[in-house]
Amino acid sequence: VNYLVEKNRGDIVNTILDGLQRLEYRGYDSAGLAVDGDKPNEVLLFKEVGKVSALRKLYESSQTDDCRTFVSHVGIAHTRWATHGQPSPLNAHPHRSDRNNEFVVVHNGIITNYRELKALLEAKGFVFETETDTECIAKLAKYVYDLNKNRELDFTELAKLLLMELQGAYGLLLKSVHYPNEIIATRKGSPLLIGVKTEKKLKVDFVDVEFPDFPEIIIDGPADSAPSLAVPQAKGLSGSSLLVPLAGPDLRRSQSRAFISDDGVPMQAEFFLASDPSAVVEHTKKVLYLEDDDIAHIYDGELHIHRVRREEGQPTIRSIQTLEMELDEIRKGNFDHFMQKEIFEQPESIVNTMRGRIDFEKKTVTLGGLSAYLNTIRRCRRIIMVACGTSYHSCMATRAIFEELTEIPIAVELASDFLDRRSPVFRDDTCVFVSQSGETADTMLALQYCIERGALTVGIVNSVGSSISRQTNCGVHINAGPEIGVASTKAYTSQYVALVMMALSLSDDRISKRARRHAIIDGLAKISQQIEEVLALSDRIKEMAETDLVHQKSLLLLGRGYQHATALEGALKIKEISYMHSEGVLAGELKHGVLALVDEDLPIIVLATHDSLFPKVMSAVEQVIARSGKPILLCNKSESALSKLRKTYRTLEIPATVDCLQGLLNVIPLQLMSYWLAVKKGFDVDFPRNLAKAVTVE
Ligand code: G6P
Repeated sequence: VNYLVEKNRGDIVNTILDGLQRLEYRGYDSAGLAVDGDKPNEVLLFKEVGKVSALRKLYESSQTDDCRTFVSHVGIAHTRWATHGQPSPLNAHPHRSDRNNEFVVVHNGIITNYRELKALLEAKGFVFETETDTECIAKLAKYVYDLNKNRELDFTELAKLLLMELQGAYGLLLKSVHYPNEIIATRKGSPLLIGVKTEKKLKVDFVDVEFPDFPEIIIDGPADSAPSLAVPQAKGLSGSSLLVPLAGPDLRRSQSRAFISDDGVPMQAEFFLASDPSAVVEHTKKVLYLEDDDIAHIYDGELHIHRVRREEGQPTIRSIQTLEMELDEIRKGNFDHFMQKEIFEQPESIVNTMRGRIDFEKKTVTLGGLSAYLNTIRRCRRIIMVACGTSYHSCMATRAIFEELTEIPIAVELASDFLDRRSPVFRDDTCVFVSQSGETADTMLALQYCIERGALTVGIVNSVGSSISRQTNCGVHINAGPEIGVASTKAYTSQYVALVMMALSLSDDRISKRARRHAIIDGLAKISQQIEEVLALSDRIKEMAETDLVHQKSLLLLGRGYQHATALEGALKIKEISYMHSEGVLAGELKHGVLALVDEDLPIIVLATHDSLFPKVMSAVEQVIARSGKPILLCNKSESALSKLRKTYRTLEIPATVDCLQGLLNVIPLQLMSYWLAVKKGFDVDFPRNLAKAVTVE
């Protein structure tokens, strides 16, 4: 949104597309944008399948005359990860209310009652052109607008009426020819932030909110509000009717005002609305994170924030925060891919996780974000770690050391399964939510579930300002820096270190654990240097991937104890970006089924670094060899027990560290392996098919 900032359409579209490109890792099967046309009340839509670059091409090849200059302008855009409807230009966002594009909308999330809304709107004569859930938002906006034309609703009032009918999750932007140079931004369950760029000093001016009683559109509800219009019952819906009041109390303006500048004097300002800060940081570092049910309305260079409905006791303040992210952090630099950059950043990112928190001389760990809650956590009945994907593996990797140091029972849960089971949670539980993005819908829902049950909630999150970091009682930011590659690498190792630090911190009152704690802290002091050493294996791993593995259909990874998680994480990396079937197997389970797969062709990577379980891992290796299998051994450099096997089988030699930290080193060759396999196969490493970085839908 630019207000009193003169730009031609080409510049506006470039700003939008550049921002969109930075968000592309969140979804990339199609993209689209909406900007103003040359005629009054004209909104142009451009949509294309594939990445943002395809949309850019489409725009550039269009006949659009870019000479038109706008003093104030609102443009919206979206890059999609399909949930409802195939990736196609039609299904790409923005979606529109009608052929004149009176209302256009972009939306992240899922509208769960879209079928009902669609049926009702169809009954009112709307013709849907896509298979998406989002389209009903644009059409409903027009319907509400048309019905209330004589009322002269402002855009916020219209949005409130609209939002009352939407169920599900959304982060959405709404633009309309009826409200030129204005935008509505609102969220529920999906992230949304507003970057503000202005020369003026921002004045924060919050006024308590007076909410008028809006007449409602009622769906599936009682038809008791007197002046209303009942529409015919929609096909296929029993007992549903859309009731829209035609008369009734005046819709008064609510008075919440987020901030204005210079006491109402129009100000030059640009506002950048996005799902995450990486799209905004090149323009401004001043951002405001919207909360669920906030409606941001930007007009006349001012930003106003309203609430969907009145709630007592809710904070009426939104603060403007300053991003610490640097533009360079979200650029590839000299690397070919973000994933490669992020793998090679690990010696540094891991230090950033520990910076200011571990005193290696005094051997103490201080986690500021947990300090007020440490004693409560120490007294809890159990700790439940909840996460998805790679983040789940970081919990698996640290569970044993957590149990050992804290002597508190630890449950590790996949968020979706935890919710499916409606697992019992109590007030004296501590629930730890681990998430790179801090926005994963499954993890968020699990967090809500635990909040409702009164448990103490802790976030271990990378994205500062994300929903999980804001909604938990306390937590630790892992400080790995922005992770753009869809396959998570540096976030995994930083989550791992953050969880180990948490266990160290929780146990620092236990004398009996002191020696163990000191050994771990000494191990952490050296870990960055050791990661450098492992990264030096990159060329050897590349060669191994290209010669031995790339033509294979399948790959097994065996590990036990601390290395079970490494096997799972390695297998996930390989699946995600090289599309090769791979399975992480607990070595102890090998003989209970998986052994049937072993033959002389199937590659099997065995995590055989030295710890107390090493003899048991070796017996798994023997079982593999006895079935003519040919293991690839990931082992420690000086492992004498392997001197014979080294002659026959391929090895990758890794420096040794404390047992509970070994996974930090062992995972790196597997990250590199998946990377080189994908490169060799010619796949798009940073944008693996069908996946998205932050999955904000259930
Ligand atoms: C998606 C990503 C994974 C990630 C998982 C959890 O599936 O593709 O790489 O591990 O979500 O994400 P989170 O942001 O919660 O760590």
